[in-house]
Amino acid sequence: SLSELGWQMLPIGDAKPAVMETAGRRQGRPYYYIEMAQGSHTHHPNMDPTTVWGYKGPNDSEGQFPGKTIEADKNQKLKVEFSNELPSSHLFDVDTRVHGTKPGDYAESYPDWVTQFDGYGGTKDFPEVRAVTHTHGLHVESASDGLPEQWKSPDGIEGPQFEKDVYDYPNRQAPATLWYHDHALGSTRLNVYAGLAGFYLIRGGAERRLGLPSGDQEVPLLFQDRSFDGGDEYKYPDEFAPEFAGDVSVVNGLAWPSFEVQPQQYRFRLLNGSNNRFFDIRLENDDSGGVPTIYQIGTDLGFLQDVVPIGPNQDTTSLLLGPAERADVIVDFSEFAGDTFTVKSDAGFPFVSPDAENDGGGLPELAQFRVADSMPQEPVVDPTTLKLPGPETFREEAVGTTRRMSLETTTLNGLDTHLLGEEGGRDGGEHWNDPVLTKPQVGTMEVWEIKNNTPDSHPIHLHLVDFQVIGRGPNGTQPPEPTERGNKDTVKVYDGETVRIISRFGEFTGRYVWHCHILEHEDQEMMRPYEVVKGDS
Ligand code: C2O
Ligand code: CU
Repeated sequence: SLSELGWQMLPIGDAKPAVMETAGRRQGRPYYYIEMAQGSHTHHPNMDPTTVWGYKGPNDSEGQFPGKTIEADKNQKLKVEFSNELPSSHLFDVDTRVHGTKPGDYAESYPDWVTQFDGYGGTKDFPEVRAVTHTHGLHVESASDGLPEQWKSPDGIEGPQFEKDVYDYPNRQAPATLWYHDHALGSTRLNVYAGLAGFYLIRGGAERRLGLPSGDQEVPLLFQDRSFDGGDEYKYPDEFAPEFAGDVSVVNGLAWPSFEVQPQQYRFRLLNGSNNRFFDIRLENDDSGGVPTIYQIGTDLGFLQDVVPIGPNQDTTSLLLGPAERADVIVDFSEFAGDTFTVKSDAGFPFVSPDAENDGGGLPELAQFRVADSMPQEPVVDPTTLKLPGPETFREEAVGTTRRMSLETTTLNGLDTHLLGEEGGRDGGEHWNDPVLTKPQVGTMEVWEIKNNTPDSHPIHLHLVDFQVIGRGPNGTQPPEPTERGNKDTVKVYDGETVRIISRFGEFTGRYVWHCHILEHEDQEMMRPYEVVKGDS
């Protein structure tokens, strides 16, 4: 805990993940060759190294947690290969009641594929370790998406939807903060918890003209939680637990970091990379003085329409991020030389809704910023006058199809399970293996109304698309929160509410998925395939 370990002091520059190196070029494009590999990672100076799984670039000697940051320019085509070089047994117990962990889970959908395995006519053991990397927020062809059944095992067994090793990433979308992470069916929660996550930034375009803080003054921050087993190894439940959260705050792989910052302006790209925990972020001055305003300039997939000031005297007093959500923010410490700020979170666990009582279970302190007592530097930009290149507004008049979706709870295989309900489906929600029901036509706009019939909040994520939130609240008629008035790929759906989102489907056709980004829910059936189809099918 924090009281045992204490804050670890380090300059914030030391916490910034390095940029991933290319491994040359392929077909004239920058080529990345990245291994998923075991590594040994020190979370805190008072701890010994922990065994982790991470991403290993060409200059790394082992898997890194977090992985180095992949940086792409808008419209720059990349070739990216993620190779599974993990051990053949898992760091954690694999509960085979979870869907996707045994051949029988695939037998109905892939009767031929499954015959390679022992018990189904073949001789192979079903692999305990399966991995596939998805770049979250990227608009990409289905074959390069890193879908849950596109996994591969360390000894080369290919999941039933595996198509290719070298992915094509077009980066034909607005500059934004994306991230890459594991997505294997039934094992995502274990693989990501083991460390398989990193940032993916798209730069350029209209962003350049803003002249935002850059270099040392731009830092991506990955907020996560972990538990340790009393020693230095990770602790994760042996049996499937739909609501598991860690009790140690880990930012960019560092437990309880106290970052030394300069009295200057920073751009922070915040990502909630937790399996299951929501963070409700605000700053508190340790000497009960004032705090700098957090100016939010971007959401998951690009800039906001309007800058959102967040602070004690603002309409928005904290920044609530569910798992997988990102926020691009500007913070100026120039008037606070010598001060210390604690990054607090008031979110309880499991997270019910912003209006509910915090019933505990939270991680109230996440990190610190200690402002050096040195010469303050002029701010780089004035966030109050920034003209953000916000997204075009998706208009409801252009929508042909509205789908009524829902979030449900049930029991499957003796496990507490959440399901997604789809329009035209059965009562109580669909299973992963049920036929594809949701088939948007490429290039068309749709509204999805997502009604939450469960007692908790769920961050709902769609692959392939940008969407905009058009309503929330009990009837889906309340306006979106100021912090979500930009393009999104993940939206929080609180207890008792209906969230309405609008999206344009395309530019690719084919198989994608939508799911809850609580990884414990996603792994056990709270995920569904959808298919973007040609115009007149
Ligand atoms: Cu961040 Cu389907 O994933
Ligand atoms: Cu969920």
